[in-house]
Amino acid sequence: MDTKSTLSRREVLQAISVAALGGFASATAPARATTLALPGARFPDRFMWGAATAGHQVEGNNTNADLWLLEHVKPSIFVEPSGDACNSFELWRTDLDLVKSIGLNAYRFSLEWSRIEPEPGALSIAMLDHYRRILDGCRERQLLPLVTFNHFTAPRWFAAQGGWENKAAPDLFARFCEFAARGLADGISVATTLNEPNLTRLLKWLPLPFPPGYDAARREMLAVAARAAGSTRFSAANVSDPEPMMPQLLEGHRRARAAIKSVRGDLPVGVSLAIVDDQAVGANSRRDQKRAEVYGEWMEVAKADDFIGVQNYGRQRLDASGPMLPPADAELTHNHEEFYPASLEGAIRYAHEATGRPVIVTENGIDTLDDSRRAAYIPLAIEGMKRAMASGVPVRGYIHWSLMDNFEWVFGYSPRLGLSEVDSKTFRRTLKPSARVLGALATHDLLAGR
Ligand code: GAL
Repeated sequence: MDTKSTLSRREVLQAISVAALGGFASATAPARATTLALPGARFPDRFMWGAATAGHQVEGNNTNADLWLLEHVKPSIFVEPSGDACNSFELWRTDLDLVKSIGLNAYRFSLEWSRIEPEPGALSIAMLDHYRRILDGCRERQLLPLVTFNHFTAPRWFAAQGGWENKAAPDLFARFCEFAARGLADGISVATTLNEPNLTRLLKWLPLPFPPGYDAARREMLAVAARAAGSTRFSAANVSDPEPMMPQLLEGHRRARAAIKSVRGDLPVGVSLAIVDDQAVGANSRRDQKRAEVYGEWMEVAKADDFIGVQNYGRQRLDASGPMLPPADAELTHNHEEFYPASLEGAIRYAHEATGRPVIVTENGIDTLDDSRRAAYIPLAIEGMKRAMASGVPVRGYIHWSLMDNFEWVFGYSPRLGLSEVDSKTFRRTLKPSARVLGALATHDLLAGR
């Protein structure tokens, strides 16, 4: 894989010296005795350094998914359709080579439920074989595969039955998970059931309201999609209202965990949550109210998991009246969030305190058009993670979001969170310099033999 530019010697040394000074040595502190949640769960021996993607965001032409329909109806809150995405359905080998060329030892990707179960109960062995080949490709390249069984998208038929609002949703999801686990579990290193099932609750705590008309357009989009699907309802995990979905998502996670464990008891299973570093400001801060609402039930359910997946993109300060805007002098990223890499440490500490589980950072990253800010962000975020580890928090891996620029849901293709760019016509991947920064940190750590 060609790289657009190679890192200067100074940048590499800088990254490595951050590694050396930032507590990498102390990260050898033994994990707590409580780290294994269930008898038999086995984590890979080595720290997982990886990059992540998700099926719908990179595969392309995921035409049977609920979101494909929502991207194409009018009105739609999706600024553009996913289309070919990064054509990773064809180019997954190139993606694995890319991960390897960065110097990482892990790859997080997701299964597309709508490809594997295009009609209710019609389970496709051929599609399972596709994901099997990706797992085999990981092994051939000595990459540890972290597999997300569901990353937001579901089959269109599932959405037209009410999605996660449907009381039967946990059963339907567990059936899919058991089928997928039977075909794939022996090749997986770490399994995640759901991706950010708490996201829609988190969105209720933004400091600024959604633009006028957004919510009406969202509801209208779902209503039009229901009609298009020949149903009276249509509900999708990352765009529908949280409360009607939440009991089924919680039960869906429990049932999926049991289904996967029934196939392979020693496979580490958990859930990935969107966790902001919530910071209390002044007296009577609403921080703890937010924590209870957004994470509370999920932290409880995760206590029976093998790990807690932390996905962090920043901090939020909360005072007595609620969420605050970033400080006036803060550097803002492309999506107008504060540049605040230390948030990862806060999120890791909170997730471990709340669950007692080992942590895997399943996503962390920054939306920026200026890759030198990502190159600056990565060592700082990792330094914070290392501080948490040095003080005894068992962290098993750091997976950066994302391997490449991709389809960022309602925002389409304008966000830039990738370690590589992707040409939208040729699909050629080109590593950005920040990938080398992450690679240098990972390589240094892996060579140190942890
Ligand atoms: C997360 C999501 C990812 C990706 C990321 C960056 O919420 O799990 O799929 O979109 O945000 O925006």
